Amino acid sequence: MEKFYATTAIDYVNGAPHIGHAYEKILTDVIVRHFYKRSGNVYFLTGCDEHGIKIQKTSQELDITPQEFCDKNAKQFEDCWNLLDINYNQLIRTTNPNHKKIVQKIFKKLVDKGDIYKHSYEGLYCSGCECFLSDKDLDEDGCCLIHKKKPEKVSEENYFFKLTKYKDRIINHIKNNPDFIIPEFRAKEVLNQLDNIEDISVSRSKSSVSWGIDVLDDDSQVIYVWIDALSNYITALGYDPNGSSELFEKYWPANVQVIGKDILKFHAIYWPAILLALDLPLPKHILAHGWITLDEAKMSKSLGNVVSAQNVLKGFELKIPDALRYYLATSAAVGKDGNYSDLDFKEKVNSQLANSMGNLLNRTLSMLVKYFEGEIKQEFIVDNELFNRAKKLINNTKAHFDSFEVQEASVELMEFIDEINKFVTDNAPWTLAKEEKWTQCGQVLYVVLELMCTVSVLIEPYCPNIAKLMAQQLKFDINTKLDDIMFNNIKAQKLISKEEIKPVFLRIDSEFADKK
Ligand code: ME8
Ligand code: MG
Repeated sequence: MEKFYATTAIDYVNGAPHIGHAYEKILTDVIVRHFYKRSGNVYFLTGCDEHGIKIQKTSQELDITPQEFCDKNAKQFEDCWNLLDINYNQLIRTTNPNHKKIVQKIFKKLVDKGDIYKHSYEGLYCSGCECFLSDKDLDEDGCCLIHKKKPEKVSEENYFFKLTKYKDRIINHIKNNPDFIIPEFRAKEVLNQLDNIEDISVSRSKSSVSWGIDVLDDDSQVIYVWIDALSNYITALGYDPNGSSELFEKYWPANVQVIGKDILKFHAIYWPAILLALDLPLPKHILAHGWITLDEAKMSKSLGNVVSAQNVLKGFELKIPDALRYYLATSAAVGKDGNYSDLDFKEKVNSQLANSMGNLLNRTLSMLVKYFEGEIKQEFIVDNELFNRAKKLINNTKAHFDSFEVQEASVELMEFIDEINKFVTDNAPWTLAKEEKWTQCGQVLYVVLELMCTVSVLIEPYCPNIAKLMAQQLKFDINTKLDDIMFNNIKAQKLISKEEIKPVFLRIDSEFADKK
């Protein structure tokens, strides 16, 4: 069975998670849940990035230790992912002792190899970006383009990583593997950045930042955030320069590393260089998603326009996260920005999840109860051309997910649901019932219910709770793998009673929406 290892960026825990962070974790979760339905052999890593100057400063302001601050905030991320049913295998925290130990070993290995060397440096450091800026990164007032703040002048002796040594190999890798960076149009941007790449500072003096991992054999320096942070993807699996664990051997290299477009440079240039220096294979794909904006501005903790997943669920009195998962995962084509608005959220999930999908199942089951006391009779079971259409949809869905087109796959699924709705309208089972054409009427209902089994499997990655409720009412196993869907799930039997029918997703009431 082919394995599938997916990672997300690890979030800075200097604030609470917002729906931009949630978008990335949901997107990855949807991808992993899809591949679980193909191979079953998946591993999903997410985590928290807990070192650096921002965390040091914020905890100082709050008069608590940085570790206490991280513990408190990491818990908020963990709670949020649980609330959103993010089905990760591991949430790594960079303050974890094993991670710290291995990062020190990685650093030492690169020092021994001559890929890390000591060098004095003067530069402009932005604590928002956690990196040194060059002139291109500044506006006319000398402020960081992203954070609109003046960077600090820093002059120190630091360790540097020989990024330039790996430049040509990375350029070749990107050129020879056009799907290494997804979406493909971003590869050009990365190749441009590679043109003027220099060696990078990978440590800071303790006098300027103390909250980090100590450099072994050098009391004056801590390992600077990116080597620490990027290594999480392998330390979490048990990588060790002196002999790695089985888990690492089984899952590395990653199939996809999901990150935001603002940190693509680190993942498509720095990270491959570190891996090459460690003689490790590169990940198959780096998926750089766009931003979730609010009124077209990027939402970020530093800029201050923030909506949280918890508040959306609370505001709309939603007990399950499915609607928000669906909305965010499908908010933008792969790599593009999506926007969040309360009104758009409400309209989209009401129309697609409640009306088109939920209501289709609900009224079909209700008719089955009304006309046939919930029983599927042998003569209802017929073949239908829509079954072939459904098989094609399954194949198209796989193709979409092979290119991580999570939104595109959902659009096709919704089109298919529209076709089923049209099939119901065209065949008007209520008219057939009036005319007492019972067999024909039962056949229409059967075909719809059989198709809804496929729909439940395909919607599951986005809406796991809704899918489960659908499958329960269809007496169908929601864990059916994509290749095992056979279109003979609905058997001649009493399928459901009136009491067992429940709506899988209720429209979000405008009364709640208006309160926001
Ligand atoms: O960058 N929309 O952490 P971070 C979509 N610790 N995605 C967003 C977003 C938004 N409005 N705001 C943030 C870091 N993100 C580092 C990563 S990885 C080894 C280290 C995404 O908390 C952002 O693009 O600033 C990134 O992928 C993730 O959330 C964490 O951002
Ligand atoms: Mg950020």
